[in-house]
Parts: sequence; structure tokens; C-alpha cells
Amino acid sequence: MPAQPDYTVNSPDGQIQVAFSLDESGAPTYEVSYKEQTILEPSRLGFVFLSDPPLNMGFVLKDIRCSTFDETWEQPWGEVRYVREHYNEMRLHLQEESYLKREFIVVFRLFDDGLGFRYEFPEQPNLTDFQIIDELTEFNFAADHKAWWIPAYREHRYEYQYQRSPVSLLKKVHTPLTLETAAGLYLAIHEAGLTDYASMVLAGTGKHALECELVPWRADADAVKVKAATPHRTPWRTLQIAETPGELITSYLTLNLNEPNALGDVSWVRPGKYIGIWWAIHLRHYSWSSGPNHGATTENAKRYIDFAAEHGFDGMLVEGWNLGWDGDWYNSKDAFDFTTAYPDFDLEEVARYAREKGVRLIGHHETGGDVLNYERQMAEAFALYESLGVNTVKTGYASVLIDGAEWHHGQRMVEHHQEVVELAAQHKVMLDVHEPVKDTGLRRTYPNLMTREGVRGMEWNAWSQDGGNTPEHTTVIPFTRMLSGPMDYTPGIFDLIYQGRYADNRVRTTLAKQLALMVVLYSPLQMAADMPENYEGHPAFQFVIDVPVDWEETLVLNGEIGEYVTIARKDRHSQDWYIGAITDENGRLLKIEFSFLEPDVKYVAEIYADGPDADWETNPRSYEIRQEFVDRGTTMKLELAPGGGQAIRLRPAAEGDL
Ligand code: NOJ
Repeated sequence: MPAQPDYTVNSPDGQIQVAFSLDESGAPTYEVSYKEQTILEPSRLGFVFLSDPPLNMGFVLKDIRCSTFDETWEQPWGEVRYVREHYNEMRLHLQEESYLKREFIVVFRLFDDGLGFRYEFPEQPNLTDFQIIDELTEFNFAADHKAWWIPAYREHRYEYQYQRSPVSLLKKVHTPLTLETAAGLYLAIHEAGLTDYASMVLAGTGKHALECELVPWRADADAVKVKAATPHRTPWRTLQIAETPGELITSYLTLNLNEPNALGDVSWVRPGKYIGIWWAIHLRHYSWSSGPNHGATTENAKRYIDFAAEHGFDGMLVEGWNLGWDGDWYNSKDAFDFTTAYPDFDLEEVARYAREKGVRLIGHHETGGDVLNYERQMAEAFALYESLGVNTVKTGYASVLIDGAEWHHGQRMVEHHQEVVELAAQHKVMLDVHEPVKDTGLRRTYPNLMTREGVRGMEWNAWSQDGGNTPEHTTVIPFTRMLSGPMDYTPGIFDLIYQGRYADNRVRTTLAKQLALMVVLYSPLQMAADMPENYEGHPAFQFVIDVPVDWEETLVLNGEIGEYVTIARKDRHSQDWYIGAITDENGRLLKIEFSFLEPDVKYVAEIYADGPDADWETNPRSYEIRQEFVDRGTTMKLELAPGGGQAIRLRPAAEGDL
């Protein structure tokens, strides 16, 4: 078979190019370049099946179709209101030349900020039910770039601090995987629209290529990864390409590669800020279990609801209200009962009280990884919440394996999460998923899928054996984990030094950085994680009260991965802007400009800055609040302490201010 010519497609601005080709054996490959620089060298495509011959060579091109799409869509909520979806598409329909004549289609979509491609398997006589044991997709980088990574197949799922190494040293890592090239480009590999399939992990090759590795069904001795039947299609494999790290954050490629809203009227979906009977449990002031320290009592819940109502919080989370927490819940999962409360928690009364006070009670479903137990009860559990007006539920899958046998990110759990989101939508419930499968932008299709954890969050500072999260951690995750979607990190701790499980447990930031994180770390359900008693009477609490969670626009003003970042976001419901700047363990001076502000408007900047003597290690509580006038011509210097940050609210000046 002679090698066939390359088929190419470019991004709308012409800078990114994909060239697809079939070699002499009819094996498909693709290459990617940006501004004529090679990003991916020829990289293979294809599949290996359990009982059918592999689908990886002997192809001819049956058909090719190119098209262009350019529409702007509105997010019902989000980090930005309008998203432009502008791409050029190339669909290559391949068929085996002889014998089985099986076919698949490779679809490439090129945007100005990157590309996605996926495989489609049409209905056909010689490919009906199939079991994938390997997806051959490869990312063959042109050089040994620097990568920020967390390991896959580990006890703590996605909850690791990122490490940095050359691609050639990577073993098995999760996506999003963020890379920096020697030429100063920033790349990220991830996937979009993960349904009916297994998650993609990236496997190292010892060289500068990475291979797609699908997460297996563990119970399956043959290491089956995906069970499917035609017609079927894979998630999109995505590659973001940016000239600054900040452009990765403001790229909406993953969302653009998801299907539009499938739920119709979602006016019942409302972002919000919440508090909860939560941090006090992680610090062991209260317990999830019944007994003298039980946190979820009717009385305590009412106290938290009063606090939420007084300060304008939308929600209040209660953990440990339902039976199942006594004893070693992490290892005796099937005890969880999702509809029966402990005797000292009157669910109906607490829900009624919350409604009366205009606060939403946030429900909690901790499965402990016993998904079979949860699946038996979840229809009833969501119906109960709906009947009580509880419209937000935090779910949890805290375990090493699911049902003792499955990974959190295999096809089994992808399917489970799909069922839960659809069920929740039927009951008009919004979700905050902990120990989730990674985010691949499904919130576009299911706007009740608000946020998820999938990150080493605040709770690690309460009890981790290694002390807690480094000051650097939160300067990495905006450029890595957050590329996949919203993140329930739970910032906002004011009492930074406390008695945790281990002597060195504490929060390794200044207080001003905690405020800044409420802007930097995007979550449409954003928790102010500390206890009411630690907020009471604190002047900096005003920022926590003011900061919104739903944004018109997001701008990254500066940033270097693992060093610092400054993000500005415009409130969706006012003319105000909010800015969060954070740094790693190094103090620094950041200069910002305000050219994004409205012309001819003077703004009052309410500044929450590290005090001159602040330092995460020696003086984390030192901060000062001051006001300045700014307009779009102003340049401001932000002084960040080691492990510090700065938070700013900008509001148009009113009569009395001037
Ligand atoms: C781990 C979750 O991340 C945390 O938020 C929750 O409190 C516990 N599991 C118990 O459900």
C-alpha cells in the first residue's frame, strides 16, 4: 500500500495545524504544529480489542469532510458568561482495505487555543459489541518538555501535590498534564466529554512520547478497559497550546468540546457561597459519629444557619447527620443509610429552619466507596432531599477502591457518575462531588454538575502526616487541576495555626492569601471553610462576605506555574471586579494594571494586603485593609509576603467616596 498524502486542517487563526496521514501499512498517524514549530511528531492512533483483531493498520480513506463552526454560547453560570466556539473540523472516515472492512472516523477540531480529536465507531457488520484493551493514541512531543504531574493509580486518587519532571521520566500520570517547552510555550493534555468510556491516564515511554492508557475494569482478569457497542464514540483527546501560562486558564477548549445543555430550563441551578459543619470535624472539635461531640445536631445546625443568614451565605453543609458514621466508617462502608438521621438531628426541622432563614441546607452523601450500597438507596435519598427543599448535595467516594474492586476513574465510575447527575437533575439538585472522576467539562451538558474536589484540598492541612499543603501548591493547581473545571478546594481559613492531628499541621499561607484564594480558585459553590467563631469580629471577613461566585469575565493578569498568579474576575451581577494574587514561599512584588476597567469610571479599591511583617511561617495573621482610588490608567504594586497574597474588591466610586 503506498503512503498516502497528508490531510491537513488549521485553526481559524491559521497558527495550529494538524496533518493526518496513513503510512505504507495503512496505519494512521497525526502531527501537530504551532506557528510552524512542531508540537507533536507523527503520533499513532488506533485500538486493540480483547477478542477482535486490532484496529490499527490496513486502512484506506473512505471519505473526508471539512467544516467550520462559529457560535457564541452563554454559560448559565461560570467563570465567564460568553464562550466563543470557533473551530475548523476535519472528519476522516477510515476503512480497512481488506478482510473485515471495519471502519472508524477520526474527527479533529481545531480552535485558536488548541485542538481536540476523537474516534467514532459507526454501526457496521463486523464491529458490534466490542471490548477495548488498549487505545493506541499517542502524544509524541518534539522534545523532552517540563511537565507538572500527579501519579495515577494511587491510594489518594487525584489528591497529590504536583511534581515537575521531564516527560521522559514520567511513569503513569493523570490529566490535565501541563507542560512547558524550552521555547516558552505552554501545553496541556486532557480529555473532554468523558461518558461511556474509561478515563485516560498518560503512560511514559522513557522517551518524550506519552501514550494513552485507559483505566481498566479491575475485576476483569483480561484487563478490559472499555465495554461498548457500535455506534459509539470516545471522549475528545485535547491539547491546549498557549504562549503564557495564564492563557491556559482562560482557554475554554474543554467546555467547547462538550455537548450543549441537555437539561433545558436550569433556572433552579444557582451558584452560591456556603459554610458548613465541616472544618470543625476535620480538626476533631466535633465528630461525624454519634456521641458527645457529634457535630450534626439540630442545635448546632441552627447556629450555623443563623450565622449563614446573618452574613448572606447561600448554603450550609451538614456532614455526619445520617446513620453510618459510627466506628471505622472508612472500612465498614455499607453501614451508610442515606435517609435516616441520628436521633439528635431533626432533618425535617433543620431543613424547615434553613428555608425560613433563606439559607439552603446542603445535603451530604458519603458513600465510603460502597457504590453498590449507594446505588440501592440513591433514588430515595434524592427524593427525600427534594421533598425537604434541599437543592444541593455534596457526594463523596472516600476509599482507595470502589466496592473493593474498581478505580475511581474507570468506566464503572464514569457510568455511575452519569447516573447520579441525571438522577440529581430529575430532583433539581446541584452536585458537589468529592473523590470524583476527573472533570472533563460535562457541566456544559449538565449544568447541575457544579463543582468537585479531585484535588489535594484544604482538609489535608488538618490531618496529613506530611504537615500539609506547601505554599507552592496553590500556585500550581490553577495551571493544572483547575484547567479541567471548578474545584471545591474550600479556602477561607482564618485561624491558620491550630491543634491538628499531627504537631506540624497548620495552613501554610498568610490570612490575606486565604482571601485571595477565594478569587483565584474557581468554584461556583465556594466554601468559606472556617468555623463561624473564627470569622466573628474579624475585619477581613468582609471580603469573604462580599466576594461573589458567579462571574461575567475572568482575566489572568500575570502568573508563573508554581510561583505566583493574579486573577481578576468581574461579578456577573454588579459592576464590581475582584482580584486575587497569590505567591509561593517567596515574597514578591507584583505590578498590575487596570486597563480592563470601564473608561471614565473611578473605582474604590478595597485592598486586603499582607501586613509589612507578614510571613506564612512566622506571622501569618498580619494583614491590613486600606482603600485607594483607581481607574484604568492606574498601575498598582502588590506586595506579597512569603506564602502570602492580596485580595482586592473594586467597586465604582459613589458620591460619598469622592
Ligand atoms: C472527604 C471529603 O473530601 C471531605 O470533604 C469530607 O468531609 C469527608 N470525605 C467525609 O465525607
